[in-house]
Amino acid sequence: MKVVITGGGGMLGFKLAKALLARGHLSGADGKNAAITRVTLLDTAFPAILPQDSRLETISGDISAPGVMAKVVTPDTQSIFHLASVVSAGAEADFDLGWKVNLDGARALLELARRCARPPRLVFSSSVAAFGGDLPEVLDDSTTPNPQTSYGAQKVCCEYLVTDYTRKGFIDGRSLRLPTIVVRPGKPNLAASSFASGVLREPLNGVISECPVSLDTDVWLLSPGRCVESFIHAHETPSSLWGMSRVLNLPGITVPVSEMINAMRRVAGEAAASRVVYKPDERIQKIVAGWPVKFRTPRALGMGFKADPDVDSVIRAYLADEGIKPAA
Ligand SMILES: NC(=O)c1ccc[n+]([C@@H]2O[C@H](COP(=O)([O-])OP(=O)(O)OC[C@H]3O[C@@H](n4cnc5c(N)ncnc54)[C@H](O)[C@@H]3O)[C@@H](O)[C@H]2O)c1
Repeated sequence: MKVVITGGGGMLGFKLAKALLARGHLSGADGKNAAITRVTLLDTAFPAILPQDSRLETISGDISAPGVMAKVVTPDTQSIFHLASVVSAGAEADFDLGWKVNLDGARALLELARRCARPPRLVFSSSVAAFGGDLPEVLDDSTTPNPQTSYGAQKVCCEYLVTDYTRKGFIDGRSLRLPTIVVRPGKPNLAASSFASGVLREPLNGVISECPVSLDTDVWLLSPGRCVESFIHAHETPSSLWGMSRVLNLPGITVPVSEMINAMRRVAGEAAASRVVYKPDERIQKIVAGWPVKFRTPRALGMGFKADPDVDSVIRAYLADEGIKPAA
Protein backbone atom coordinates (compact mmCIF):
# COMPACT_ATOMS: atom_id res chain seq x y z
CA MET A 1 0.00 0.00 0.00
CA LYS A 2 1.03 3.58 -0.61
CA VAL A 3 1.42 6.01 2.29
CA VAL A 4 1.80 9.80 1.91
CA ILE A 5 3.33 12.08 4.55
CA THR A 6 3.06 15.81 3.92
CA GLY A 7 5.68 17.72 5.90
CA GLY A 8 7.71 14.50 5.63
CA GLY A 9 10.98 16.43 5.73
CA GLY A 10 10.10 18.05 9.07
CA MET A 11 10.92 16.93 12.59
CA LEU A 12 7.86 14.76 13.23
CA GLY A 13 7.18 13.81 9.59
CA PHE A 14 10.66 12.40 9.07
CA LYS A 15 10.59 10.46 12.35
CA LEU A 16 7.19 9.09 11.32
CA ALA A 17 8.55 8.03 7.92
CA LYS A 18 11.41 6.11 9.55
CA ALA A 19 9.01 4.47 12.02
CA LEU A 20 6.66 3.38 9.21
CA LEU A 21 9.50 1.95 7.13
CA ALA A 22 10.70 -0.01 10.17
CA ARG A 23 7.17 -1.21 10.97
CA GLY A 24 6.50 -2.32 7.38
CA HIS A 25 2.71 -2.54 7.51
CA LEU A 26 -0.43 -0.50 8.21
CA SER A 27 -4.17 -0.85 7.95
CA GLY A 28 -5.27 -0.03 4.41
CA ALA A 29 -8.32 1.95 3.38
CA ASP A 30 -10.39 -1.23 3.85
CA GLY A 31 -9.10 -1.58 7.42
CA LYS A 32 -7.11 -4.73 6.55
CA ASN A 33 -3.45 -4.96 7.44
CA ALA A 34 -1.23 -4.53 4.37
CA ALA A 35 2.48 -4.28 3.62
CA ILE A 36 3.75 -0.76 3.02
CA THR A 37 5.12 -0.70 -0.51
CA ARG A 38 5.72 3.05 -0.78
CA VAL A 39 6.19 5.97 1.61
CA THR A 40 6.00 9.28 -0.28
CA LEU A 41 7.24 12.37 1.55
CA LEU A 42 6.16 15.80 0.34
CA ASP A 43 7.99 18.84 1.68
CA THR A 44 9.92 21.89 0.55
CA ALA A 45 13.17 20.51 2.02
CA PHE A 46 14.50 17.20 3.33
CA PRO A 47 17.27 16.10 5.71
CA ALA A 48 20.63 15.66 3.96
CA ILE A 49 20.81 11.98 4.85
CA LEU A 50 17.83 9.84 3.88
CA PRO A 51 17.33 6.13 4.69
CA GLN A 52 18.47 3.88 1.85
CA ASP A 53 15.14 2.20 1.27
CA SER A 54 13.58 1.50 -2.13
CA ARG A 55 10.11 2.10 -0.66
CA LEU A 56 10.96 5.73 0.17
CA GLU A 57 10.16 8.51 -2.30
CA THR A 58 10.68 12.24 -1.73
CA ILE A 59 8.83 14.91 -3.70
CA SER A 60 9.84 18.51 -3.29
CA GLY A 61 7.06 21.08 -3.56
CA ASP A 62 4.72 23.53 -1.89
CA ILE A 63 1.43 21.90 -0.84
CA SER A 64 -0.49 25.03 -1.78
CA ALA A 65 1.01 25.38 -5.28
CA PRO A 66 -1.22 24.27 -8.17
CA GLY A 67 -0.56 20.74 -9.36
CA VAL A 68 1.86 19.73 -6.60
CA MET A 69 -0.54 17.66 -4.56
CA ALA A 70 -1.69 15.72 -7.63
CA LYS A 71 1.87 14.37 -8.03
CA VAL A 72 1.69 12.96 -4.53
CA VAL A 73 -1.85 11.83 -3.75
CA THR A 74 -2.72 9.38 -6.53
CA PRO A 75 -5.79 7.13 -6.86
CA ASP A 76 -3.90 4.22 -5.24
CA THR A 77 -3.09 6.21 -2.05
CA GLN A 78 -4.62 4.46 0.95
CA SER A 79 -3.07 6.34 3.79
CA ILE A 80 -2.21 10.01 4.40
CA PHE A 81 -0.53 11.76 7.31
CA HIS A 82 -0.99 15.51 6.90
CA LEU A 83 1.73 17.28 8.87
CA ALA A 84 2.93 20.05 6.52
CA SER A 85 2.28 23.41 8.09
CA VAL A 86 3.57 26.92 8.44
CA VAL A 87 4.07 26.69 12.19
CA SER A 88 2.82 29.11 14.86
CA ALA A 89 5.29 32.01 14.73
CA GLY A 90 5.43 31.84 10.92
CA ALA A 91 1.64 31.92 10.51
CA GLU A 92 1.43 34.85 12.90
CA ALA A 93 4.20 36.75 11.10
CA ASP A 94 2.78 36.19 7.61
CA PHE A 95 -1.03 36.14 7.69
CA ASP A 96 -1.48 35.40 3.97
CA LEU A 97 1.11 32.63 3.85
CA GLY A 98 -0.41 30.93 6.91
CA TRP A 99 -3.90 30.74 5.43
CA LYS A 100 -2.60 29.78 1.97
CA VAL A 101 -0.51 26.85 3.16
CA ASN A 102 -2.41 25.76 6.25
CA LEU A 103 -5.95 26.03 4.90
CA ASP A 104 -5.77 26.12 1.08
CA GLY A 105 -3.05 23.43 1.09
CA ALA A 106 -5.18 21.17 3.30
CA ARG A 107 -8.20 21.73 1.08
CA ALA A 108 -6.20 20.79 -2.04
CA LEU A 109 -5.06 17.63 -0.26
CA LEU A 110 -8.58 16.69 0.80
CA GLU A 111 -9.96 17.24 -2.70
CA LEU A 112 -7.42 14.76 -4.09
CA ALA A 113 -7.95 12.33 -1.23
CA ARG A 114 -11.62 12.39 -2.17
CA ARG A 115 -10.74 11.07 -5.61
CA CYS A 116 -8.76 8.06 -4.36
CA ALA A 117 -10.03 4.64 -5.36
CA ARG A 118 -11.15 4.05 -1.75
CA PRO A 119 -11.59 6.69 1.00
CA PRO A 120 -8.07 6.84 2.48
CA ARG A 121 -7.32 6.96 6.17
CA LEU A 122 -6.05 10.43 6.98
CA VAL A 123 -4.36 11.59 10.19
CA PHE A 124 -4.12 15.36 10.66
CA SER A 125 -1.71 16.99 13.14
CA SER A 126 -3.67 19.70 14.90
CA SER A 127 -2.57 21.54 18.02
CA VAL A 128 -3.72 22.70 21.43
CA ALA A 129 -3.35 26.16 19.85
CA ALA A 130 -7.00 25.42 18.99
CA PHE A 131 -7.73 26.66 22.53
CA GLY A 132 -7.41 30.18 23.89
CA GLY A 133 -9.18 33.06 25.54
CA ASP A 134 -10.90 32.43 28.88
CA LEU A 135 -10.00 28.83 29.58
CA PRO A 136 -11.14 26.51 32.36
CA GLU A 137 -8.32 25.37 34.65
CA VAL A 138 -8.53 21.85 33.21
CA LEU A 139 -9.54 21.31 29.57
CA ASP A 140 -11.10 18.22 28.04
CA ASP A 141 -12.64 17.10 24.75
CA SER A 142 -15.77 19.14 25.45
CA THR A 143 -13.86 22.44 25.77
CA THR A 144 -14.86 24.74 22.91
CA PRO A 145 -11.97 25.71 20.64
CA ASN A 146 -11.42 29.47 20.71
CA PRO A 147 -8.08 30.02 18.97
CA GLN A 148 -6.31 33.30 19.60
CA THR A 149 -3.74 33.00 16.82
CA SER A 150 -4.04 32.60 13.04
CA TYR A 151 -2.22 29.25 13.34
CA GLY A 152 -4.76 28.01 15.89
CA ALA A 153 -7.64 29.21 13.72
CA GLN A 154 -6.17 27.41 10.69
CA LYS A 155 -5.84 24.19 12.68
CA VAL A 156 -9.48 24.38 13.83
CA CYS A 157 -10.70 25.04 10.25
CA CYS A 158 -8.81 21.94 9.08
CA GLU A 159 -10.27 19.84 11.91
CA TYR A 160 -13.75 20.79 10.67
CA LEU A 161 -12.80 19.95 7.07
CA VAL A 162 -11.42 16.55 8.09
CA THR A 163 -14.60 15.83 10.06
CA ASP A 164 -16.90 16.92 7.25
CA TYR A 165 -15.04 15.03 4.50
CA THR A 166 -15.26 11.99 6.79
CA ARG A 167 -18.99 12.48 7.39
CA LYS A 168 -19.49 12.57 3.60
CA GLY A 169 -17.54 9.32 3.24
CA PHE A 170 -14.75 10.93 1.16
CA ILE A 171 -12.02 10.01 3.66
CA ASP A 172 -11.68 8.25 7.01
CA GLY A 173 -10.14 11.14 8.97
CA ARG A 174 -8.73 11.62 12.47
CA SER A 175 -7.35 14.90 13.90
CA LEU A 176 -4.99 14.89 16.85
CA ARG A 177 -4.37 17.98 18.97
CA LEU A 178 -0.70 17.69 19.85
CA PRO A 179 0.80 19.05 23.07
CA THR A 180 4.15 20.90 22.78
CA ILE A 181 6.68 18.38 21.53
CA VAL A 182 9.71 18.15 23.82
CA VAL A 183 12.64 17.61 23.31
CA ARG A 184 12.73 19.00 19.78
CA PRO A 185 16.16 18.21 18.29
CA GLY A 186 18.16 20.81 16.38
CA LYS A 187 18.56 24.49 17.06
CA PRO A 188 16.48 27.02 19.01
CA ASN A 189 13.96 28.88 16.83
CA LEU A 190 11.89 32.05 17.13
CA ALA A 191 8.75 30.27 18.37
CA ALA A 192 7.60 31.32 21.84
CA SER A 193 7.58 27.60 22.71
CA SER A 194 11.27 27.24 21.83
CA PHE A 195 12.27 27.50 25.51
CA ALA A 196 10.34 24.28 26.34
CA SER A 197 12.87 22.19 24.44
CA GLY A 198 15.77 24.63 24.78
CA VAL A 199 15.79 24.43 28.56
CA LEU A 200 16.78 20.76 28.19
CA ARG A 201 18.39 20.43 24.76
CA GLU A 202 21.12 23.06 25.01
CA PRO A 203 22.31 22.06 28.52
CA LEU A 204 22.34 18.38 27.53
CA ASN A 205 24.61 19.38 24.62
CA GLY A 206 26.94 21.37 26.86
CA VAL A 207 25.54 24.80 25.94
CA ILE A 208 24.09 27.50 28.24
CA SER A 209 20.31 27.92 27.87
CA GLU A 210 18.61 31.21 28.71
CA CYS A 211 15.19 30.46 30.17
CA PRO A 212 12.80 33.34 29.40
CA VAL A 213 9.94 32.21 31.67
CA SER A 214 9.65 31.76 35.42
CA LEU A 215 10.47 28.34 36.82
CA ASP A 216 6.88 27.69 37.94
CA THR A 217 5.64 27.97 34.33
CA ASP A 218 3.84 24.75 33.35
CA VAL A 219 4.27 23.08 29.96
CA TRP A 220 1.85 20.50 28.48
CA LEU A 221 4.23 18.19 26.69
CA LEU A 222 4.73 14.97 24.74
CA SER A 223 7.95 13.45 23.42
CA PRO A 224 8.54 13.12 19.65
CA GLY A 225 8.64 9.31 20.00
CA ARG A 226 5.28 9.11 21.77
CA CYS A 227 3.87 11.57 19.23
CA VAL A 228 4.91 9.35 16.31
CA GLU A 229 3.41 6.32 18.11
CA SER A 230 0.20 8.34 18.48
CA PHE A 231 0.08 9.17 14.75
CA ILE A 232 0.39 5.46 13.93
CA HIS A 233 -2.09 4.45 16.62
CA ALA A 234 -4.58 7.04 15.34
CA HIS A 235 -4.23 5.54 11.87
CA GLU A 236 -4.65 1.97 13.11
CA THR A 237 -7.69 2.39 15.34
CA PRO A 238 -10.89 1.26 13.61
CA SER A 239 -13.26 3.86 12.27
CA SER A 240 -16.00 2.63 14.64
CA LEU A 241 -13.94 3.74 17.65
CA TRP A 242 -13.92 7.32 16.38
CA GLY A 243 -17.58 7.43 15.41
CA MET A 244 -18.74 10.98 14.73
CA SER A 245 -16.05 12.61 16.93
CA ARG A 246 -12.96 12.84 14.79
CA VAL A 247 -10.90 15.26 16.91
CA LEU A 248 -8.94 14.22 19.97
CA ASN A 249 -6.75 15.96 22.54
CA LEU A 250 -3.72 13.71 22.90
CA PRO A 251 -2.59 12.74 26.38
CA GLY A 252 0.48 14.55 27.66
CA ILE A 253 2.05 15.51 30.97
CA THR A 254 1.98 18.88 32.72
CA VAL A 255 5.48 19.75 33.86
CA PRO A 256 6.74 22.96 35.48
CA VAL A 257 10.06 24.23 34.12
CA SER A 258 11.60 23.69 37.58
CA GLU A 259 10.74 19.96 37.35
CA MET A 260 12.27 19.77 33.86
CA ILE A 261 15.52 21.07 35.31
CA ASN A 262 15.32 18.71 38.32
CA ALA A 263 14.75 15.76 35.98
CA MET A 264 17.76 16.82 33.91
CA ARG A 265 19.80 16.87 37.14
CA ARG A 266 18.64 13.29 37.92
CA VAL A 267 19.29 11.97 34.40
CA ALA A 268 22.36 13.92 33.29
CA GLY A 269 23.89 15.39 36.46
CA GLU A 270 24.39 18.76 38.11
CA ALA A 271 26.64 20.07 35.32
CA ALA A 272 23.78 19.91 32.82
CA ALA A 273 21.23 21.42 35.23
CA SER A 274 23.57 24.31 36.06
CA ARG A 275 23.65 25.38 32.40
CA VAL A 276 20.14 26.86 32.65
CA VAL A 277 20.26 30.61 33.25
CA TYR A 278 17.09 32.49 34.11
CA LYS A 279 16.72 35.48 31.77
CA PRO A 280 13.12 36.74 32.01
CA ASP A 281 11.45 37.91 28.82
CA GLU A 282 8.10 39.54 29.57
CA ARG A 283 6.87 39.16 25.98
CA ILE A 284 7.36 35.40 25.98
CA GLN A 285 6.04 34.99 29.54
CA LYS A 286 2.87 36.80 28.50
CA ILE A 287 2.31 34.62 25.42
CA VAL A 288 2.97 31.43 27.38
CA ALA A 289 0.62 32.47 30.20
CA GLY A 290 -2.30 32.16 27.74
CA TRP A 291 -1.55 28.55 26.81
CA PRO A 292 -3.61 25.61 28.04
CA VAL A 293 -1.45 23.39 30.26
CA LYS A 294 -3.81 21.02 32.05
CA PHE A 295 -5.99 18.47 30.25
CA ARG A 296 -8.17 15.51 31.12
CA THR A 297 -7.97 13.02 28.25
CA PRO A 298 -10.10 9.98 29.23
CA ARG A 299 -11.31 9.36 25.68
CA ALA A 300 -7.80 9.24 24.23
CA LEU A 301 -6.52 7.07 27.09
CA GLY A 302 -9.52 4.76 26.65
CA MET A 303 -8.67 4.46 22.95
CA GLY A 304 -5.14 3.37 23.84
CA PHE A 305 -3.16 6.61 23.31
CA LYS A 306 -0.34 7.06 25.84
CA ALA A 307 1.50 9.97 27.41
CA ASP A 308 5.13 9.76 28.51
CA PRO A 309 5.36 8.38 32.06
CA ASP A 310 7.46 11.32 33.30
CA VAL A 311 9.90 13.96 32.11
CA ASP A 312 12.91 11.80 33.06
CA SER A 313 11.91 9.33 30.34
CA VAL A 314 11.40 12.19 27.87
CA ILE A 315 15.00 13.26 28.48
CA ARG A 316 16.33 9.70 28.24
CA ALA A 317 14.45 9.20 24.95
CA TYR A 318 16.02 12.38 23.52
CA LEU A 319 19.53 11.28 24.52
CA ALA A 320 18.98 7.81 23.04
CA ASP A 321 17.37 9.09 19.79
CA GLU A 322 20.13 11.59 19.15
CA GLY A 323 22.95 9.34 20.37
CA ILE A 324 24.06 11.99 22.84
CA LYS A 325 26.12 11.39 25.95
CA PRO A 326 25.36 14.31 28.28
CA ALA A 327 28.31 16.71 28.34
CA ALA A 328 30.04 16.68 31.76
N1 LIG B 1 6.24 20.35 17.29
C1 LIG B 1 5.23 20.74 18.05
O1 LIG B 1 5.41 21.11 19.24
C2 LIG B 1 3.82 20.71 17.50
C3 LIG B 1 2.77 20.98 18.37
C4 LIG B 1 1.48 20.98 17.84
C5 LIG B 1 1.26 20.68 16.50
N2 LIG B 1 2.32 20.44 15.69
C6 LIG B 1 2.05 20.17 14.28
O2 LIG B 1 2.72 18.98 13.87
C7 LIG B 1 3.13 19.08 12.51
C8 LIG B 1 4.60 18.74 12.38
O3 LIG B 1 5.31 19.63 13.22
P1 LIG B 1 6.91 19.60 13.33
O4 LIG B 1 7.24 19.92 14.73
O5 LIG B 1 7.47 18.39 12.67
O6 LIG B 1 7.24 20.90 12.48
P2 LIG B 1 8.33 21.10 11.32
O7 LIG B 1 8.40 22.57 11.08
O8 LIG B 1 9.58 20.40 11.68
O9 LIG B 1 7.63 20.35 10.11
C9 LIG B 1 6.66 20.95 9.30
C10 LIG B 1 7.09 20.72 7.88
O10 LIG B 1 6.12 21.32 7.01
C11 LIG B 1 6.84 21.77 5.88
N3 LIG B 1 6.11 22.78 5.14
C12 LIG B 1 5.78 24.04 5.54
N4 LIG B 1 5.16 24.69 4.56
C13 LIG B 1 5.08 23.81 3.51
C14 LIG B 1 4.53 23.89 2.21
N5 LIG B 1 3.97 25.02 1.75
N6 LIG B 1 4.61 22.80 1.41
C15 LIG B 1 5.21 21.66 1.84
N7 LIG B 1 5.74 21.53 3.06
C16 LIG B 1 5.67 22.60 3.88
C17 LIG B 1 8.12 22.38 6.46
O11 LIG B 1 9.15 22.47 5.48
C18 LIG B 1 8.44 21.38 7.56
O12 LIG B 1 9.37 20.39 7.13
C19 LIG B 1 2.75 20.49 12.05
O13 LIG B 1 1.50 20.42 11.40
C20 LIG B 1 2.61 21.25 13.36
O14 LIG B 1 1.70 22.32 13.23
C21 LIG B 1 3.60 20.43 16.16
